[in-house]
Amino acid sequence: MAALWRLLLLSALLAACELRCASAFRICAFNAHHFGESKSKNSVVMKTLVKIVTRCDVILLQEVRDSKRKALPTLLAQINRESRDQYDYVASERLGRTGSYQEQYAFFYRTGSVLVTGKYQFPDDRPGDKDAFAREPFVVKFKAPKTEIQEFVLIPQHTSPTNATKEMDALYDVLQDVRRMWKTENIILLGDFNADCGYLAKKNRDKVRIITDPNLKWLLPEDTDTTVRASTSCAYDRIVVNGRKLSNAVVPSSARAFNFQEEFRLTEDEALDVSDHYPVEVLLRSAAVPVKVRLRSAAVSLSCSLLLVLLMLLSQS
Ligand SMILES: *[C@@H]1O[C@H](CO)[C@@H](O)[C@H](O)[C@H]1NC(C)=O
Repeated sequence: MAALWRLLLLSALLAACELRCASAFRICAFNAHHFGESKSKNSVVMKTLVKIVTRCDVILLQEVRDSKRKALPTLLAQINRESRDQYDYVASERLGRTGSYQEQYAFFYRTGSVLVTGKYQFPDDRPGDKDAFAREPFVVKFKAPKTEIQEFVLIPQHTSPTNATKEMDALYDVLQDVRRMWKTENIILLGDFNADCGYLAKKNRDKVRIITDPNLKWLLPEDTDTTVRASTSCAYDRIVVNGRKLSNAVVPSSARAFNFQEEFRLTEDEALDVSDHYPVEVLLRSAAVPVKVRLRSAAVSLSCSLLLVLLMLLSQS
């Protein structure tokens, strides 16, 4: 009998959930540390990567080092084999100051919830700001009908550690460019900025315009650890949102690092085989579902569970 009451309570909760909690939309950024041929051939690593990607509606992968251009297609194929939802990706050209060390930015996205509506490779010889970045941001505009905000732009950046402060500051110019070009304020800057520990000195923070401009909100708490190694604790990876409207569309306190080592019960070495960074993520509020529709689905799930309870009662007596 107690079990029945518990079931009844659970179904009431589920029905209440239908009314209240439409599933939120997750945006992630992950420095996948030398993601290329050798990782794409490691089935254990790939399994974890698939799990990491498919938690997110959109995820920025950084440090893609895929000179043979096979690792990204391999990851996509495995995701679409193993996941309920279909994914696709857009990737930048290979970027870097020297021919021998190049990286790509790649955005994987759930095709059922996101559409790519614009792409813009920030030029590496922009007048007045010659060669600010080691890897110029590959900016992508998304349409996301299931979110309250409907449309947003992601500016990715993996800074080079030695120039992290300067590159973070230069992101401000990219932001202004994108605001003008696409006439939108719904812009998120994200990625491994190396924004902590030895790479961003406290005294230099007031020289970084994406820190000092009050229109920008740094979402992850300063004491967040985005590194896998137990011996380090640094908030290198960041998510920064522009404008009040976008700030309001973020689920409060949802920004965090995703500790995949703990969540997937890996040892430190197993986690390090995947990356030395955790992904960072934030939730966007979903678009309001009309009250009538929510009421209807709540009523359906409540009557289903009542019926179930009734059947169980009958079968017991
Ligand atoms: C740092 O910036 C300087 C000046 O723009 C550039 O010459 C140098 O190559 C940069 N270092 C790295 C590691 O990108």
